[in-house]
Amino acid sequence: MIMYALMETTTCFLNGLLSIILVYSAMAFLAIQATNITTDQSSLLALKAHITHDPHNLLANNWTTTSTSVCNWVGITCDSQNNRVVALNLTSMNLTGTIPPQIGNLSFLVQLSLRNNSFHGSLPIELVQLRRLEVLHLGNNSFQGDIPSWLSSLSKLQILYLFGNNFTGTIPPSLGNITTLRNLELWNNNLQGTIPPTIFNLSSLDTIELSMNSLSGSLPDDMCRYLPALQRLILHHNQLEGSIPSSLWQCKELLRISLDNNNFTGTIPRNIGKLSLLQELYLDTNDLEGELPAELGSLHALQILTTGNNHITGSIPPEIGNLRNLVRLSFYNNDLVGLIPPAIFNISSLETISLPMNRLSGSLPDDMCQHLPVLQRLILHHNQLEGSIPSSLWQCKELLRISLDYNQFTGTIPRNIGKLSLLQELYLDENYLEGEIPEELGSLQALERLRIGESPLITGSNSTSNL
Ligand SMILES: *[C@@H]1O[C@H](CO)[C@@H](O)[C@H](O)[C@H]1NC(C)=O
Ligand SMILES: *[C@@H]1O[C@H](CO)[C@@H](O)[C@H](O)[C@H]1NC(C)=O
Ligand SMILES: *[C@@H]1O[C@H](CO)[C@@H](O)[C@H](O)[C@H]1NC(C)=O
Ligand SMILES: *[C@@H]1O[C@H](CO)[C@@H](O)[C@H](O)[C@H]1NC(C)=O
Ligand SMILES: *[C@@H]1O[C@H](CO)[C@@H](O)[C@H](O)[C@H]1NC(C)=O
Ligand SMILES: *[C@@H]1O[C@H](CO)[C@@H](O)[C@H](O)[C@H]1NC(C)=O
Ligand SMILES: *[C@@H]1O[C@H](CO)[C@@H](O)[C@H](O)[C@H]1NC(C)=O
Ligand SMILES: *[C@@H]1O[C@H](CO)[C@@H](O)[C@H](O)[C@H]1NC(C)=O
Ligand SMILES: *[C@@H]1O[C@H](CO)[C@@H](O)[C@H](O)[C@H]1NC(C)=O
Ligand SMILES: *[C@@H]1O[C@H](CO)[C@@H](O)[C@H](O)[C@H]1NC(C)=O
Ligand SMILES: *[C@@H]1O[C@H](CO)[C@@H](O)[C@H](O)[C@H]1NC(C)=O
Ligand SMILES: *[C@@H]1O[C@H](CO)[C@@H](O)[C@H](O)[C@H]1NC(C)=O
Repeated sequence: MIMYALMETTTCFLNGLLSIILVYSAMAFLAIQATNITTDQSSLLALKAHITHDPHNLLANNWTTTSTSVCNWVGITCDSQNNRVVALNLTSMNLTGTIPPQIGNLSFLVQLSLRNNSFHGSLPIELVQLRRLEVLHLGNNSFQGDIPSWLSSLSKLQILYLFGNNFTGTIPPSLGNITTLRNLELWNNNLQGTIPPTIFNLSSLDTIELSMNSLSGSLPDDMCRYLPALQRLILHHNQLEGSIPSSLWQCKELLRISLDNNNFTGTIPRNIGKLSLLQELYLDTNDLEGELPAELGSLHALQILTTGNNHITGSIPPEIGNLRNLVRLSFYNNDLVGLIPPAIFNISSLETISLPMNRLSGSLPDDMCQHLPVLQRLILHHNQLEGSIPSSLWQCKELLRISLDYNQFTGTIPRNIGKLSLLQELYLDENYLEGEIPEELGSLQALERLRIGESPLITGSNSTSNL
């Protein structure tokens, strides 16, 4: 039994070794072949021959041997020292075609960009010969098949953009060998499986963007131990689960965290408050619970904070009022209770306050709009707010939408709402408002949607029929 297992392991090992030897000897064979600018030319002509549709005849008219050197062809850059092709950039030329194996003969190539065309098929293994490649940009095409594990042999690669294609399968763990990698963008493909932990060992990474795939599994709790330069962690619209890593604070350079639209559970880690450069934090549409940590109030650079569609409980920490750069605050559809801390209405950069579908109570400060000069959206419907509608609303002159419906507001509708000349949507229904609908609402030229409701306390409701 043991012998058998041993033999099997050995065979497996030998097979592995054999295929490694084969790949390397193939590469060695190809590498030995001397290449020159003529090789470059035949490689490019092979590419041209694999273009099936070139609606503007860009290559058809330009990539011709009768003209001067390939170095003058559109999309080609040569280095003057060696007179070899160092960049092939066919960005947004509306080309359809495949990548032929001969591209692997462009042995001085540093940048390869076919971005935003209709290239399809899989990536030929000959690309592995491009030992000098630093930029591989194939974003926005229709490439398919697996992301090849041999990409890890491109040991100088800094930028790997494969987003917006039709790649399937899993992310190869071997990508974790490309120690020079700075940008890894594989978003908007059909990738599944877990994110290989090896990726989180690439200490030069500044962007990990894997959103809009079907990735599952959880993130290693210590994922930020070796990512000192990470600025963007963008993983939204996947099926990731487990807790938000407690080590996020160790990625000290983070500017943007997008974990929204996944299946993360547990609480928001308190030490996230140490990310002093963070500008955007998206956590909405997960299964998070627990309270909003007061430490969020230490994220002084924060502009966007969204935790909507979770199961967050407790009250909104007043420390949120310390976020002096906040533009969008969105906690919709949670289980929040208590007052909206008045300090929030003192954040003069706010454009959106979106706290609907909670159990918030208390009243709004009458002067709430005194320090909100750029507020565009005040969305508070489906709560338990009471008291009167603030008479200062007209001072939020940029308002486009007011949703105060499904609360317990009392009193009358302030006449000066009629001064909000940009207002497009006004929802006040399902409250305990009384009195008449002010005629002034008739002067709201931009108004597209109005619901004041069937409240028996409202009289003269046909005065709005001409709005
Ligand atoms: C090909 O395009 C390049 C860059 O646009 C231009 O300089 C060159 O003259 C063109 N060559 C021909 C033969 O059209
Ligand atoms: C490739 O070409 C596009 C459009 O001509 C340009 O915007 C882009 O900067 C180029 N990319 C590189 C890496 O040179
Ligand atoms: C992508 O290519 C299309 C045409 O195929 C063009 O209309 C569009 O502007 C390009 N987008 C970018 C960002 O280059
Ligand atoms: C790109 O090509 C398609 C047809 O292949 C055409 O419908 C489209 O208008 C083209 N776009 C540009 C910007 O040339
Ligand atoms: C270029 O690459 C092809 C396919 O990889 C190979 O068969 C051919 O020998 C190469 N040509 C030259 C001139 O090196
Ligand atoms: C990708 O394609 C979409 C749709 O054509 C376009 O809006 C987008 O700007 C493109 N992005 C890049 C980086 O080319
Ligand atoms: C992706 O592949 C699937 C199945 O092979 C195909 O139906 C779909 O049209 C492809 N999408 C794109 C954007 O190429
Ligand atoms: C590359 O990564 C794989 C998987 O992580 C690993 O097994 C392999 O030893 C690495 N290869 C090299 C050459 O470092
Ligand atoms: C990451 O690197 C550390 C230290 O170099 C090593 O101990 C660990 O095994 C690596 N983890 C992975 C998943 O490659
Ligand atoms: C994951 O979340 C999505 C919504 O984001 C939900 O439809 C799905 O049922 C969840 N899956 C699991 C296994 O919880
Ligand atoms: C709002 O700001 C004003 C002036 O900066 C300050 O006096 C007041 O105490 C603040 N109110 C709250 C509730 O933080
Ligand atoms: C409201 O409508 C009713 C019936 O349509 C009409 O009799 C009444 O005069 C209207 N009231 C006002 C203030 O326009």
